[in-house]
Amino acid sequence: MVQRGLSKAIGTILRHVPISMWPALVSRRTGVLTPRAIVPLASPAALGGANVRILLDFLDQTQAVQGAVAECGVWRGQTLIAMALYLKQRSSPKTLWGFDSFAGFEGTTPHNFRDTSLQLVEQKAAIFGLTNVNIVPGYFRDSLKTVENQSFSFVHIDCDIYDSYLECLNFFYPRLGPKGVMLFDEYDDPDWPGAKRAVDGFCHARGILLESVVGDNYKKAFATRPEGTAT
Ligand SMILES: C[S@@+](CC[C@H](N)C(=O)[O-])C[C@H]1O[C@@H](n2cnc3c(N)ncnc32)[C@H](O)[C@@H]1O
Repeated sequence: MVQRGLSKAIGTILRHVPISMWPALVSRRTGVLTPRAIVPLASPAALGGANVRILLDFLDQTQAVQGAVAECGVWRGQTLIAMALYLKQRSSPKTLWGFDSFAGFEGTTPHNFRDTSLQLVEQKAAIFGLTNVNIVPGYFRDSLKTVENQSFSFVHIDCDIYDSYLECLNFFYPRLGPKGVMLFDEYDDPDWPGAKRAVDGFCHARGILLESVVGDNYKKAFATRPEGTAT
């Protein structure tokens, strides 16, 4: 059972309602993060979870960039399903790839995100009739190989820890299309210092410009692949 009260019939109706219009209560009941469910921070800060408004803006901005969309760190699919629904509702031909171990982090890192499963997220996708999302379970070092021959227009990196960030940066940055964007959810978040360490190390070594975006006072960092850079 995905979320108590979320039936196939409700999913069939909701899939036709633009997610920007879903009331916050619907967002909470379905486990799909939508713009009206965001509680703004008191002042700009790199704290809190993902901000779906920022994600949807980047999907729009990168729509014309070649390649697919990816999310590294799916957990229960709150943002993955929101992005898949948004792409579908905008009639985008893009495929969305989601990567997660569905078993939390490797090793002993606390706050392990183990309260999920591939089946749970796949059920959510099915309830909304989503055929534009591919979910690949496993640790990134194995799972990312599935898309080694693809290019990407937008990649949402939401995987918290240093090793996972570095793995995703090394894999996805060379596969971004010109003007493609990588968004770093936990950059500068004091709860996850490894994210900033990995991004800074990677970007400084390659002269990659890091920029920031603020929505509802959620401050996030991103990098854009310049046009004309070699792959
Ligand atoms: C913050 S949660 C993702 C939250 C989700 N995007 C959302 O907004 O609800 C981070 C996820 O990254 C996953 N993760 C971190 N490192 C990983 C790795 N090396 N391989 C696979 N999954 C990983 C964890 O299992 C966890 O589910």
